[in-house]
Amino acid sequence: MEPDRKSNSTKLGDLRNHITEDGSISLESTYFQESFHSRYGAKREAKEKFLYPAEISRFKKKTSINVLDVCLGMGYNSGIILEELNKASIRINWSGLEIDTRPLKIALSSSLFRKSWSPEVLKIIESIYYFNGWEEQASKGEVLWGDARKTLDEIPENIKFDLIFHDGFSPSKCPEVWSEEFLTSLAKRLINGGRLITYSSAAAIRASLKRAGLNIYSLLPVEKQKKQWSSGTLAAKGEVINSPFQGNQRWQALTPMEEEHLLTRAAIPYRDPTRKSTSLEIISQRKIEQQASRMISSSAWKRKWLN
Ligand SMILES: C[S@@+](CC[C@H](N)C(=O)[O-])C[C@H]1O[C@@H](n2cnc3c(N)ncnc32)[C@H](O)[C@@H]1O
Repeated sequence: MEPDRKSNSTKLGDLRNHITEDGSISLESTYFQESFHSRYGAKREAKEKFLYPAEISRFKKKTSINVLDVCLGMGYNSGIILEELNKASIRINWSGLEIDTRPLKIALSSSLFRKSWSPEVLKIIESIYYFNGWEEQASKGEVLWGDARKTLDEIPENIKFDLIFHDGFSPSKCPEVWSEEFLTSLAKRLINGGRLITYSSAAAIRASLKRAGLNIYSLLPVEKQKKQWSSGTLAAKGEVINSPFQGNQRWQALTPMEEEHLLTRAAIPYRDPTRKSTSLEIISQRKIEQQASRMISSSAWKRKWLN
Protein backbone atom coordinates (compact mmCIF):
# COMPACT_ATOMS: atom_id res chain seq x y z
CA MET A 1 0.00 0.00 0.00
CA GLU A 2 1.37 3.41 -0.95
CA PRO A 3 0.75 6.14 1.59
CA ASP A 4 -1.08 9.29 0.62
CA ARG A 5 0.66 12.45 1.81
CA LYS A 6 2.02 15.77 0.75
CA SER A 7 5.67 15.77 -0.13
CA ASN A 8 7.90 17.58 -2.49
CA SER A 9 9.69 14.83 -4.30
CA THR A 10 11.24 17.11 -6.90
CA LYS A 11 13.20 19.06 -4.31
CA LEU A 12 16.14 16.64 -4.08
CA GLY A 13 16.37 15.78 -7.76
CA ASP A 14 17.31 12.17 -8.39
CA LEU A 15 18.47 10.08 -5.47
CA ARG A 16 21.35 7.64 -6.01
CA ASN A 17 22.17 5.02 -3.45
CA HIS A 18 25.59 3.82 -2.40
CA ILE A 19 27.15 1.74 0.35
CA THR A 20 29.22 3.59 2.94
CA GLU A 21 32.37 2.26 4.59
CA ASP A 22 30.55 0.71 7.56
CA GLY A 23 28.40 -1.28 5.16
CA SER A 24 25.26 0.83 5.61
CA ILE A 25 23.34 2.27 2.67
CA SER A 26 23.15 6.01 2.00
CA LEU A 27 21.83 8.31 -0.72
CA GLU A 28 23.10 11.21 -2.75
CA SER A 29 20.88 14.01 -3.96
CA THR A 30 21.73 15.06 -7.52
CA TYR A 31 20.12 18.46 -6.94
CA PHE A 32 22.18 19.28 -3.83
CA GLN A 33 25.15 17.26 -5.09
CA GLU A 34 25.55 16.08 -1.57
CA SER A 35 25.45 12.74 0.14
CA PHE A 36 23.04 12.15 3.03
CA HIS A 37 25.88 10.84 5.19
CA SER A 38 29.63 10.85 5.51
CA ARG A 39 31.39 8.20 3.48
CA TYR A 40 32.66 6.64 6.72
CA GLY A 41 29.21 5.26 7.40
CA ALA A 42 25.58 6.29 7.55
CA LYS A 43 24.83 4.30 10.67
CA ARG A 44 28.16 5.10 12.19
CA GLU A 45 27.52 8.80 11.73
CA ALA A 46 24.11 8.52 13.40
CA LYS A 47 25.78 6.84 16.35
CA GLU A 48 28.81 9.06 16.73
CA LYS A 49 27.36 12.45 15.85
CA PHE A 50 23.82 12.14 17.18
CA LEU A 51 23.38 9.27 19.63
CA TYR A 52 26.53 9.78 21.75
CA PRO A 53 26.03 13.53 22.26
CA ALA A 54 22.39 12.81 23.19
CA GLU A 55 23.80 10.93 26.21
CA ILE A 56 20.81 8.68 26.81
CA SER A 57 22.09 7.72 30.27
CA ARG A 58 20.87 11.18 31.43
CA PHE A 59 17.29 10.01 31.01
CA LYS A 60 17.51 7.00 33.31
CA LYS A 61 15.17 8.59 35.81
CA LYS A 62 12.64 9.73 33.20
CA THR A 63 9.85 7.52 31.99
CA SER A 64 9.57 9.27 28.65
CA ILE A 65 11.36 11.83 26.51
CA ASN A 66 10.36 14.03 23.57
CA VAL A 67 12.54 13.88 20.47
CA LEU A 68 12.35 15.95 17.29
CA ASP A 69 14.16 14.75 14.15
CA VAL A 70 14.58 17.64 11.70
CA CYS A 71 15.31 16.27 8.22
CA LEU A 72 14.44 12.67 8.90
CA GLY A 73 15.70 11.42 5.51
CA MET A 74 16.27 7.65 5.72
CA GLY A 75 15.63 7.68 9.45
CA TYR A 76 19.04 6.62 10.75
CA ASN A 77 19.21 9.17 13.58
CA SER A 78 15.77 8.30 14.87
CA GLY A 79 16.30 4.57 14.38
CA ILE A 80 19.47 4.56 16.40
CA ILE A 81 17.96 6.43 19.32
CA LEU A 82 14.85 4.26 19.26
CA GLU A 83 17.05 1.19 19.62
CA GLU A 84 18.78 2.63 22.67
CA LEU A 85 15.63 3.95 24.32
CA ASN A 86 13.97 0.55 23.86
CA LYS A 87 16.89 -1.13 25.61
CA ALA A 88 16.69 1.38 28.46
CA SER A 89 12.86 1.07 28.68
CA ILE A 90 12.40 4.80 28.16
CA ARG A 91 9.25 5.86 26.31
CA ILE A 92 9.62 8.22 23.38
CA ASN A 93 7.25 10.86 22.06
CA TRP A 94 8.71 11.45 18.65
CA SER A 95 8.15 14.04 15.94
CA GLY A 96 9.84 14.06 12.56
CA LEU A 97 10.03 16.73 9.85
CA GLU A 98 10.87 15.83 6.27
CA ILE A 99 10.05 17.29 2.87
CA ASP A 100 10.49 14.21 0.70
CA THR A 101 9.08 10.72 1.26
CA ARG A 102 11.48 9.00 -1.12
CA PRO A 103 14.53 8.62 1.17
CA LEU A 104 12.50 6.54 3.62
CA LYS A 105 10.88 4.60 0.80
CA ILE A 106 14.25 3.74 -0.73
CA ALA A 107 15.65 2.84 2.68
CA LEU A 108 12.79 0.47 3.41
CA SER A 109 13.18 -1.23 0.05
CA SER A 110 16.79 -2.13 0.91
CA SER A 111 17.31 -5.48 2.66
CA LEU A 112 20.62 -4.14 3.99
CA PHE A 113 18.79 -1.27 5.69
CA ARG A 114 16.01 -3.50 7.02
CA LYS A 115 18.49 -6.00 8.44
CA SER A 116 20.31 -3.31 10.37
CA TRP A 117 17.38 -2.73 12.80
CA SER A 118 15.70 -4.82 15.44
CA PRO A 119 12.20 -6.04 14.43
CA GLU A 120 10.62 -3.51 16.86
CA VAL A 121 12.45 -0.51 15.41
CA LEU A 122 11.97 -1.65 11.82
CA LYS A 123 8.23 -1.85 12.49
CA ILE A 124 8.26 1.73 13.75
CA ILE A 125 10.21 2.98 10.72
CA GLU A 126 7.70 1.21 8.46
CA SER A 127 4.80 2.80 10.33
CA ILE A 128 6.36 6.23 9.90
CA TYR A 129 6.45 5.69 6.16
CA TYR A 130 3.11 3.92 5.67
CA PHE A 131 0.98 5.53 8.38
CA ASN A 132 2.85 8.78 9.15
CA GLY A 133 3.61 7.53 12.64
CA TRP A 134 2.82 4.95 15.26
CA GLU A 135 1.36 4.56 18.72
CA GLU A 136 2.02 1.73 21.10
CA GLN A 137 2.36 1.25 24.80
CA ALA A 138 5.99 2.21 24.97
CA SER A 139 6.14 5.03 22.48
CA LYS A 140 4.41 7.12 19.87
CA GLY A 141 5.41 9.36 17.02
CA GLU A 142 4.25 11.40 14.08
CA VAL A 143 6.02 12.57 10.95
CA LEU A 144 5.00 15.85 9.34
CA TRP A 145 5.76 15.79 5.64
CA GLY A 146 6.52 19.13 4.02
CA ASP A 147 8.84 22.09 4.43
CA ALA A 148 10.13 22.02 8.01
CA ARG A 149 9.81 25.80 8.16
CA LYS A 150 6.04 25.35 8.06
CA THR A 151 5.51 21.96 9.64
CA LEU A 152 7.40 22.90 12.81
CA ASP A 153 4.49 25.22 13.61
CA GLU A 154 2.05 22.33 13.34
CA ILE A 155 3.54 20.80 16.47
CA PRO A 156 1.54 22.20 19.41
CA GLU A 157 3.48 24.97 21.12
CA ASN A 158 3.30 23.32 24.51
CA ILE A 159 5.36 20.36 23.28
CA LYS A 160 8.99 20.90 24.18
CA PHE A 161 11.82 18.57 23.32
CA ASP A 162 14.56 16.89 25.32
CA LEU A 163 16.43 16.30 22.09
CA ILE A 164 16.40 17.87 18.67
CA PHE A 165 18.47 16.27 15.91
CA HIS A 166 19.17 18.58 12.99
CA ASP A 167 20.57 16.86 9.92
CA GLY A 168 19.78 19.11 6.96
CA PHE A 169 22.00 19.32 3.92
CA SER A 170 24.86 21.75 4.40
CA PRO A 171 23.88 25.35 5.21
CA SER A 172 25.41 26.75 2.05
CA LYS A 173 23.25 24.42 -0.06
CA CYS A 174 20.03 24.24 1.95
CA PRO A 175 20.01 27.46 4.03
CA GLU A 176 16.22 27.38 4.50
CA VAL A 177 16.58 24.97 7.40
CA TRP A 178 19.56 26.80 8.92
CA SER A 179 18.29 30.36 9.05
CA GLU A 180 18.58 32.41 12.24
CA GLU A 181 14.77 32.46 12.38
CA PHE A 182 14.33 28.70 12.01
CA LEU A 183 17.10 27.88 14.48
CA THR A 184 15.62 30.32 16.98
CA SER A 185 12.25 28.57 16.66
CA LEU A 186 13.94 25.23 17.27
CA ALA A 187 15.80 26.57 20.30
CA LYS A 188 12.49 27.74 21.79
CA ARG A 189 11.23 24.18 21.55
CA LEU A 190 13.92 22.78 23.89
CA ILE A 191 13.14 22.05 27.53
CA ASN A 192 15.62 23.32 30.11
CA GLY A 193 18.56 20.96 29.81
CA GLY A 194 17.47 19.97 26.31
CA ARG A 195 20.01 19.56 23.52
CA LEU A 196 20.01 20.41 19.85
CA ILE A 197 22.57 18.26 18.07
CA THR A 198 23.87 18.73 14.57
CA TYR A 199 26.81 17.62 12.46
CA SER A 200 27.36 21.24 11.37
CA SER A 201 30.19 23.22 12.90
CA ALA A 202 29.62 26.24 10.66
CA ALA A 203 30.22 29.57 12.38
CA ALA A 204 26.91 30.99 11.10
CA ILE A 205 24.98 28.13 12.69
CA ARG A 206 26.82 28.29 15.99
CA ALA A 207 26.43 32.07 16.17
CA SER A 208 22.67 31.81 15.52
CA LEU A 209 22.27 29.09 18.15
CA LYS A 210 24.25 31.19 20.61
CA ARG A 211 22.06 34.22 20.01
CA ALA A 212 19.08 31.95 20.53
CA GLY A 213 20.32 31.53 24.10
CA LEU A 214 21.94 28.10 23.87
CA ASN A 215 25.32 27.04 25.23
CA ILE A 216 27.51 25.81 22.42
CA TYR A 217 29.84 22.81 22.58
CA SER A 218 32.00 21.35 19.87
CA LEU A 219 31.69 17.67 18.96
CA LEU A 220 35.16 16.24 18.78
CA PRO A 221 36.26 14.70 15.49
CA VAL A 222 35.44 11.04 15.30
CA GLU A 223 38.22 8.52 14.95
CA LYS A 224 38.34 8.46 11.14
CA GLN A 225 38.05 12.22 10.75
CA LYS A 226 40.85 13.34 13.03
CA LYS A 227 42.01 15.93 10.53
CA GLN A 228 38.82 17.94 11.08
CA TRP A 229 38.71 20.33 14.03
CA SER A 230 35.15 19.46 14.92
CA SER A 231 32.49 17.02 13.83
CA GLY A 232 29.50 19.08 14.82
CA THR A 233 27.75 21.07 17.48
CA LEU A 234 25.89 20.31 20.67
CA ALA A 235 23.76 23.29 21.70
CA ALA A 236 22.26 23.02 25.17
CA LYS A 237 19.56 25.01 26.87
CA GLY A 238 20.59 26.31 30.25
CA GLU A 239 22.79 23.44 31.21
CA VAL A 240 26.50 23.39 31.78
CA ILE A 241 27.67 20.01 30.68
CA ASN A 242 30.28 18.22 32.70
CA SER A 243 32.62 15.78 31.09
CA PRO A 244 30.36 12.81 30.38
CA PHE A 245 32.93 10.31 29.20
CA GLN A 246 35.87 10.30 31.50
CA GLY A 247 38.99 10.09 29.40
CA ASN A 248 36.88 9.80 26.29
CA GLN A 249 34.95 13.05 26.20
CA ARG A 250 33.24 13.52 22.89
CA TRP A 251 32.53 17.21 23.16
CA GLN A 252 34.10 20.22 24.76
CA ALA A 253 33.63 23.97 25.14
CA LEU A 254 34.63 25.86 22.00
CA THR A 255 38.38 26.33 21.68
CA PRO A 256 39.80 29.88 21.26
CA MET A 257 40.06 29.10 17.55
CA GLU A 258 36.38 28.18 17.35
CA GLU A 259 35.33 31.20 19.44
CA GLU A 260 37.25 33.45 17.09
CA HIS A 261 35.51 31.83 14.13
CA LEU A 262 32.29 33.33 15.49
CA LEU A 263 33.76 36.81 15.06
CA THR A 264 34.43 36.39 11.36
CA ARG A 265 32.20 37.07 8.37
CA ALA A 266 31.55 33.33 8.21
CA ALA A 267 29.41 33.85 11.31
CA ILE A 268 26.97 36.13 9.52
CA PRO A 269 23.70 34.22 9.71
CA TYR A 270 21.42 32.96 7.01
CA ARG A 271 18.33 35.16 7.21
CA ASP A 272 14.80 34.17 6.27
CA PRO A 273 12.41 36.50 8.10
CA THR A 274 9.38 35.49 6.03
CA ARG A 275 10.27 31.79 6.19
CA LYS A 276 9.41 31.63 2.54
CA SER A 277 12.66 32.72 0.90
CA THR A 278 14.32 30.50 -1.65
CA SER A 279 17.81 29.23 -0.97
CA LEU A 280 19.13 31.57 -3.65
CA GLU A 281 17.54 34.59 -1.99
CA ILE A 282 18.91 33.65 1.41
CA ILE A 283 22.42 33.08 0.05
CA SER A 284 22.49 36.28 -2.04
CA GLN A 285 21.26 38.35 0.90
CA ARG A 286 23.97 36.88 3.09
CA LYS A 287 26.67 37.60 0.49
CA ILE A 288 25.61 41.26 0.39
CA GLU A 289 25.77 41.43 4.16
CA GLN A 290 29.18 39.77 4.21
CA GLN A 291 30.58 42.18 1.61
CA ALA A 292 29.41 45.17 3.63
CA SER A 293 30.65 43.74 6.92
CA ARG A 294 33.65 45.02 8.87
CA MET A 295 34.12 41.70 10.61
CA ILE A 296 37.38 39.87 9.90
CA SER A 297 37.38 37.61 6.88
CA SER A 298 37.26 33.88 7.38
CA SER A 299 40.32 33.50 5.15
CA ALA A 300 42.34 35.62 7.63
CA TRP A 301 41.01 33.41 10.41
CA LYS A 302 42.00 30.29 8.44
CA ARG A 303 45.50 31.65 7.81
CA LYS A 304 45.94 32.28 11.52
CA TRP A 305 44.63 28.96 12.80
CA LEU A 306 44.62 26.33 10.10
CA ASN A 307 47.84 26.77 8.12
C1 LIG B 1 21.27 14.93 4.90
S1 LIG B 1 19.65 14.37 4.59
C2 LIG B 1 19.11 13.73 6.13
C3 LIG B 1 19.70 12.43 6.49
C4 LIG B 1 18.91 11.71 7.55
N1 LIG B 1 19.02 12.29 8.84
C5 LIG B 1 19.21 10.24 7.56
O1 LIG B 1 19.59 9.70 8.59
O2 LIG B 1 19.06 9.63 6.51
C6 LIG B 1 18.75 15.88 4.51
C7 LIG B 1 17.27 15.69 4.43
O3 LIG B 1 16.67 17.00 4.53
C8 LIG B 1 15.49 17.00 3.78
N2 LIG B 1 15.08 18.39 3.54
C9 LIG B 1 15.64 19.30 2.70
N3 LIG B 1 15.00 20.49 2.77
C10 LIG B 1 14.02 20.34 3.69
C11 LIG B 1 13.03 21.20 4.22
N4 LIG B 1 12.93 22.46 3.81
N5 LIG B 1 12.18 20.71 5.13
C12 LIG B 1 12.27 19.41 5.54
N6 LIG B 1 13.20 18.55 5.10
C13 LIG B 1 14.07 19.00 4.18
C14 LIG B 1 15.86 16.22 2.54
O4 LIG B 1 14.72 15.73 1.88
C15 LIG B 1 16.75 15.12 3.12
O5 LIG B 1 16.02 13.96 3.37
